[in-house]
Amino acid sequence: MDAHSLEVEGLTAGYGGELVIEKVSFRLEGPQLAQILGPNGAGKTTLIKAILGLMEPISGRVIVDGVDITGDPKGAGPIVGYVPQLFGLEQAKYPVTAWELVESSYFMHRSRWPRLFSSDEVKAKIEKALKIVGLDEEAWRKSLWNLSGGQRQRVLLARAIVHDPPVLILDEPLSAVDPSGRAEIASFIGSLADEKLVLVSTHDPMLLLRHTRTVILVNKRFYAVGSPDEVLKLEVLSRVYAGAAIQVREHVHISDMP
Ligand SMILES: Nc1ncnc2c1ncn2[C@@H]1O[C@H](COP(=O)(O)OP(=O)(O)O)[C@@H](O)[C@H]1O
Ligand SMILES: [Mg+2]
Repeated sequence: MDAHSLEVEGLTAGYGGELVIEKVSFRLEGPQLAQILGPNGAGKTTLIKAILGLMEPISGRVIVDGVDITGDPKGAGPIVGYVPQLFGLEQAKYPVTAWELVESSYFMHRSRWPRLFSSDEVKAKIEKALKIVGLDEEAWRKSLWNLSGGQRQRVLLARAIVHDPPVLILDEPLSAVDPSGRAEIASFIGSLADEKLVLVSTHDPMLLLRHTRTVILVNKRFYAVGSPDEVLKLEVLSRVYAGAAIQVREHVHISDMP
């Protein structure tokens, strides 16, 4: 089992001169599962896009397995698998479009694309990936948009793991999945973290808690990093969730934001 590392140093990013995340620093060693936790609009997707170079960070550095991939999605491509955020019930202001879905993949695998659909070897890899994520074979040739939220999420997971990258970054992989499929996909993601460095954003830390070693709590320009015990406690969570973080004995529950 190989060790992997993701180092984020002083990462600052935003839109049109307005900062969303500011000077975020952390170092993850893997294999492990780390969560990026925060309410809607906290900057989780912005942090992920800045890490992948899908948006040019204003400042800071990103180093994966010793390779500087700052602002270089093509450099990130061979090392990092990425699952962009899809949307379920909660309407987001900036949903991913079909175009972005393909574009992010294109930017991260530019040099590989011509080969990707030709050889039998690649076909076998795609089949294997679709099987591993548990997508029913009858769904393999259907349009993404005719699939359920859970099936769609499985397709995106397969897309991210097909080239077997050591690092995986998943943006809210459980949000668009109906509750019945959630536990199964959560446990699949947990099992990926046995071998890979997996970074998952979420607004519900509980689904993956038993697999989680590190929590990165973000809310715009505030952030905190530590073990679940260090971060998932009332005095830290209250800085982000205010009255929505409720201590129930030793457990912390996060209700939907008002
Ligand atoms: N493409 C964009 N252009 C301008 N502002 C954006 C864009 N995407 C996100 N934002 C803003 O940046 C902030 C963080 O958004 P985002 O990173 O999507 O948060 P999260 O993923 O945690 O829900 C929000 O205030 C959002 O309105
Ligand atoms: Mg997001």
